[in-house]
Amino acid sequence: MRKKILAANWKMNLSFVEAQAWLSQFKSSNTTKNLVDFQLYAPSLYLQSLAQQEVLTVGAQNVHPKESGAFTGELSISQLKSVGASSVLIGHSERRQYFQESNFFLKEKVDACCQQDYAFIFCCGEDLETRRAGAHLNFITDQLQASLLHLEPAKLSLLTIAYEPIWAIGTGETADTTQINEVHAHIRQLLESTFGEKGAEVSILYGGSVNASNAQSIFACPDVDGGLIGGASLNAQSFIELAHCFK
Ligand code: PGA
Repeated sequence: MRKKILAANWKMNLSFVEAQAWLSQFKSSNTTKNLVDFQLYAPSLYLQSLAQQEVLTVGAQNVHPKESGAFTGELSISQLKSVGASSVLIGHSERRQYFQESNFFLKEKVDACCQQDYAFIFCCGEDLETRRAGAHLNFITDQLQASLLHLEPAKLSLLTIAYEPIWAIGTGETADTTQINEVHAHIRQLLESTFGEKGAEVSILYGGSVNASNAQSIFACPDVDGGLIGGASLNAQSFIELAHCFK
């Protein structure tokens, strides 16, 4: 049974005080929290405090593949574990685009997570030019083949995939359900042809301007198991309400 997941990606938003207020609002909300697996990818500075409250899964937005050493400004998986963060985003398009993270570097991060049994959401998705050229499926295949599909089937339980078309992130423009269905079915098929039956158990999230008015139709797509939510996750109430958009 694939998990239904709602993952908030705050990016570089919210002060510490605002983050604490978000968490208390989340805590006190009446929504049945067992409807979906709620996850929160917060600025690293806040992870320890947020994770301590054990209200939802708390994870980091980035990690370095090395265990320790001279990597100024970076954080390792053991450091994240040591403050209670239990998952990480890998390959978000903003990391690929603004920090030049290559497929090879992302593969190293995937390997580090597998080695240390650390859960991760692997993000993939095409830019507008690639979409317009009709090359998006090949593009996504390449991203997954270069960084992810080599992992041992025994490690698949650590993995969630997020499909996020770059042209839909933070733009207010969402992919339509035909586009989403096509890509998610393609990813599912890649997983199944690589890993057999076990590939069917991996949750695949959609991300890119998901909000209360479009979530219901997106989450109804057969291969969509939830969302990676940026803008609409900054308000606790609007994030929680997305749980009601699952049928
Ligand atoms: P968005 O961001 O919901 O603001 O488009 C999604 C993401 O980048 O993870």
